[in-house]
Amino acid sequence: MAKNVQTLLHSASPYAGFDGKRMSYDPQGWESGHPVFAQEIERLAPGLIVEVGTWKGASALHMGKLVQHLGVDCEIVCVDSFLGSVEHWMTPQGRSELNLEFGHPQLYYQFLFNVLHDGLEDIITPFACTSTHAAKVLAHHSIQCDLAYIDAGHEYRDVLTDIEHYWPLVRDGGVMIGDDFSNNWPGVMRAAREFSDTNGLPLNIYDYKWVLRKD
Ligand SMILES: C[S@@+](CC[C@H](N)C(=O)[O-])C[C@H]1O[C@@H](n2cnc3c(N)ncnc32)[C@H](O)[C@@H]1O
Repeated sequence: MAKNVQTLLHSASPYAGFDGKRMSYDPQGWESGHPVFAQEIERLAPGLIVEVGTWKGASALHMGKLVQHLGVDCEIVCVDSFLGSVEHWMTPQGRSELNLEFGHPQLYYQFLFNVLHDGLEDIITPFACTSTHAAKVLAHHSIQCDLAYIDAGHEYRDVLTDIEHYWPLVRDGGVMIGDDFSNNWPGVMRAAREFSDTNGLPLNIYDYKWVLRKD
């Protein structure tokens, strides 16, 4: 399998030597197996997917299994601070999901464990970084992806910034998908609509997923 971005980011496999002895499989996610992923992955047969916002990996695992099933030679780069979003720090329930150890979320290790559990380490490349910094690094390397999935911070400014930073990284003919186009997340709706209107791009909604195609 091609692991082009992994070789740019990591001098050794980020999975090497990880045992995760104290962990168990926990692929918690939200609408992570939505049919829009199969629809776009079957259509595009992507060589590179960039996911912005990974959490414990559920959506990346779903996409990884799809490309594996289709026999597509694809790398999935998972950009996440692995520190959680605003909402995870606001309530005791949210904080408990971060699984803090010495005050630090253990999301990254849970994600590594989940990827190894599903045998997708040859497809999924972790990029533990803020979305803004990661976009700069990927642009620096002239990376172009077939599919960008935007599911990191859900505040208006965060979403708009992610869309603006990752849209240039989507190749012509590729697609950007985003999560949570819903009244529960007005910032997501505002940012997706604003970018679509400003750039004259049709915004397609499939049951809470928003989709912009780069034709
Ligand atoms: C909704 S979760 C992602 C869920 C995942 N796509 C799934 O379906 O399983 C949002 C993630 O975005 C990450 N995140 C939030 N703001 C970020 C930022 N500015 N840079 C990088 N990651 C960020 C959080 O750490 C969190 O893991």
